[in-house]
Amino acid sequence: MTVDLTVDLCGVRLRTPVLAASGCFGFGREMAGWLDLHQVGAVVTKSVSLEPRRGRPTPRMAETPSGMLNAIGLQNPGVEAFCATDLPFLAEAGACVVASLVGRSAADFGRLAERLAREPAVALLELNLSCPNVEHRGEVFATDPGMAAEVVRTVKAAAGQPVLAKLTADVTDLVAVARAVVDAGADGLTLINTLLGMAVDTQRRRPKLAAVTGGLSGPAIRPVAVRCVWQVASALPGVPIVGTGGIVTAEDAAEFLLVGATAVAVGTGSFVNPRAVVEVAAGLERYLAANGVRSVAELPALFKAER
Ligand SMILES: Cc1cc2nc3c(=O)[nH]c(=O)nc-3n(C[C@H](O)[C@H](O)[C@H](O)COP(=O)(O)O)c2cc1C
Repeated sequence: MTVDLTVDLCGVRLRTPVLAASGCFGFGREMAGWLDLHQVGAVVTKSVSLEPRRGRPTPRMAETPSGMLNAIGLQNPGVEAFCATDLPFLAEAGACVVASLVGRSAADFGRLAERLAREPAVALLELNLSCPNVEHRGEVFATDPGMAAEVVRTVKAAAGQPVLAKLTADVTDLVAVARAVVDAGADGLTLINTLLGMAVDTQRRRPKLAAVTGGLSGPAIRPVAVRCVWQVASALPGVPIVGTGGIVTAEDAAEFLLVGATAVAVGTGSFVNPRAVVEVAAGLERYLAANGVRSVAELPALFKAER
């Protein structure tokens, strides 16, 4: 049986529904030794800001049960260096590029979108409204529906590509935030970013991370992420969602697609297995064939909401 793995994400046709999540794939250069970037559904870049950022002090990572904490702090070369070196590399490799953007204000995001509107190698924009590793909590725009919507409105006025808004589960009412950004013009959503966490070194009686708190990722957060996708997809049917959080295997990815995600992204899984993105896609193809399903888009209709 032939299976169609391609998906339409906000008008962009992707070869597979499995993306490389932001911050876990760099700008593709290190990963190109492990896989063909052309075979990845899309490469979501490390979040890029107007100016270069050096990130937070070390240690920046700590292992936790079934996951990890990180406080990289959005280290990146800045948008001009990205356009001069990273984007041409990704384009040359035939990657479908989703540029992840991060700013300290709606105006920052607007300027980034304006700059990238001139770059045909960028297929989509993803707005990182939800990174927990910032110095001021006010920069986590996705904790407030009004602030998140203002960023999206500003970006949409300048953007040349479809826009995904990346949200956090660290809120009481995720659907309210999702509705606000969709009403403001977001073409789709990415759910979820890391969850704010903390771990303590009991011998040294200090936090394990220099930044004290960090973002929790990996299989430990998958049930939270699946719940978020299900809640938002049920409340806002038809809005494209990229599901992310703890995907390591094809079965993990299928959970998200069944509850309504259009595509998925593998983050921490790429640290364990650098070929995870392509292996999850190959496993999905087998899963669909074994279940007599011809295309990924058919999966949500097969989900039975009752046990
Ligand atoms: C080391 C690391 C760096 C990350 N950097 C970014 C980033 O720059 N921008 C962003 O939107 N998300 C970033 N994320 C979040 C991931 O894209 C993803 O949303 C999250 O880790 C959940 O997926 P996972 O459990 O598969 O890792 C980062 C995650 C990790 C582990």
